[in-house]
Amino acid sequence: MYETITVEKRGKVAILTINRPDKLNALTKQVHAEGVAALNELKKDDSVRVLIITGAGEKAFVAGSDISEFAGETPVTQRDQFYDRSLYNSIDTFPKPVIAMVNGFCLGGGNELAMACDLRMASETARFSQPEINLGIMCGGGGTQRLTRLVGEGRSMEMVLTGDMIDAATAERIGLVNHVYPADQLEAETMKLAEKIAEKAPIALQLSKEAVKFASRSNLDEGLRREVDLFAICFSTEDKQEGVAAFLEKRKPNFKGK
Ligand code: COA
Repeated sequence: MYETITVEKRGKVAILTINRPDKLNALTKQVHAEGVAALNELKKDDSVRVLIITGAGEKAFVAGSDISEFAGETPVTQRDQFYDRSLYNSIDTFPKPVIAMVNGFCLGGGNELAMACDLRMASETARFSQPEINLGIMCGGGGTQRLTRLVGEGRSMEMVLTGDMIDAATAERIGLVNHVYPADQLEAETMKLAEKIAEKAPIALQLSKEAVKFASRSNLDEGLRREVDLFAICFSTEDKQEGVAAFLEKRKPNFKGK
């Protein structure tokens, strides 16, 4: 039903693949629109507990926004696309954990997409950059903001001002990615992480995500207050009863998302 992406379900894990390998999975407006539509579906699908986002082929995760679409764009259309109708914002507000599985070039809008996800797993062959400066423009999909929050101002400034690529080991060292694996192990390791998270209580996962994201969007007092409010909401769930009962009965909990 989609032309530029595929969606596959493996147990409780869904895998959304950006599927334009001949163009290194560059992001067109159609990719954004189909991605947003797929996320809206997956959001409502209770059988899906965790989402993995990746790129098709062995060469690229996503090599950025599709540069061929820049011609003819106006400030108004770009603002509308990047702010209101982007995949970045749909990922940011997605209520379930999202893992970027970065299997190659992760550039520009690709890096911004990976950073909108909650966790980033990369292959040793992955390469990262914000090369917009080389096109005479700048990041527009969250690059200056999310990168700075993830790696700090100095590292972010260097990537944004030079456009230089960094390798996977460097990305791991500066905190841009969580883990790096040999290319042939990336999928298995990402699935292992996704399946582990998929066994946790869905409402507690959603609220935990919200609380962690709020940390870099608020001051400490507001963040602590929000955390307590979200923590208290967990006490209204059946999964809290189940988690506590399972601990006391020395068995594995079976969380239902209620
Ligand atoms: N937008 C549109 N098309 C892109 C693209 C992008 N961001 N990135 C790659 N492609 C296309 C290439 O034009 C090429 O298409 P073609 O076969 O029809 O000519 C195809 O994908 C393969 O890329 P190619 O450049 O031949 O591969 P390479 O191995 O020589 O180089 C890169 C790989 C990633 C270094 C190079 O493609 C590149 O610099 N891409 C642009 C990255 C960028 O600036 N992204 C930010 C945009 S804001």
